[in-house]
Amino acid sequence: MKTLLKIVSFTALASAMVAPVAHAENFKDEVETRKAHMQVVKYNMGVLADMAKGKREYDSALADAAANNMLNLASMNNMALWPKGSDNESLGDKTKAKPAIWAADSKVGEKHQAWADASKNMAAVAGQGLGDLRQAMGPLGKSCKGCHSDYKAK
Ligand code: HEC
Repeated sequence: MKTLLKIVSFTALASAMVAPVAHAENFKDEVETRKAHMQVVKYNMGVLADMAKGKREYDSALADAAANNMLNLASMNNMALWPKGSDNESLGDKTKAKPAIWAADSKVGEKHQAWADASKNMAAVAGQGLGDLRQAMGPLGKSCKGCHSDYKAK
């Protein structure tokens, strides 16, 4: 579990190791793939949120599966998807990633860690009952917003 959760900050590595390629680059594949990753996160979050709100019947096995998917998604090392220069100032409306992600004082690594921690908590309890799922929902939702409010354009 510990190794699984050893989150590598996508920025630190992205800027250090995945230098932008020399020729003109629109990072189409990277941007599309990271958005797709976020969409899978959103889908699984939706399954849990619907159960929490009573829009979908609580199902322990399904809740457990969705929460573990979330944990796996939050634990992926996606540094290659976040190359420096793939921000919305460089690429315009193709991405909502703000340049602040790659700034020297970026806190995106901490935001990612908070998300991973909240996902780990959700994965541990989601299958145990609706009450536990509901309690884990707040911190998990906050962890998304915590990153989006600073690093994702509206
Ligand atoms: C560490 C930062 C971070 C965390 C945590 C995070 N996101 Fe994101 N998310 C982003 C960024 C940056 C983008 C913009 C990506 C782009 O447009 O290239 C984004 C985009 C998205 C999108 C839009 C994808 C698209 O198709 O354009 C969705 C949906 C999304 N996030 C859902 C979530 C949910 C749900 C969570 C929490 C469970 C979450 N995110 C946690 C940084 C984060």
